[in-house]
Amino acid sequence: MNPALPGDAPEAVEPQRLCRSDELPERGRALVWDVLEYGRPARAFVMRFEGRVVAYMNRCLHVPTEMDWQEGEFLDMDRRYILCSIHGAAYEPSDGRCVGGPCGRGKLAAVTVREEGGEVYWYPSRDIRPVVFDAT
Ligand code: FES
Repeated sequence: MNPALPGDAPEAVEPQRLCRSDELPERGRALVWDVLEYGRPARAFVMRFEGRVVAYMNRCLHVPTEMDWQEGEFLDMDRRYILCSIHGAAYEPSDGRCVGGPCGRGKLAAVTVREEGGEVYWYPSRDIRPVVFDAT
């Protein structure tokens, strides 16, 4: 299977299934998945925090790099904040806001996610699209 080239994604894209709701325990390991952001490969993550699923691009505001300590491990030891593994920037999981460290006053780029019927879906946008695989 080959990833589609940027621009191959159709204009109207349906919600994309990520996982079952019960695969995202409260403040547990996040699910990381591949997307195309402005046509370039990137990664996003979804986790459950205070009962709600939240998703962001896996990219720190300090230096544009992935933040997890190990695949899907974003939270600090107290499971309270998203903590960048590189220089320790801390983010509020509920809204992605920088709350400490070298991430300034910005927010992580959010990805729209919803739960429906016990499943978690993400909603592509004009800028963040699914990676399309062909069947050949
Ligand atoms: S790259 Fe995340 S804190 Fe520096």
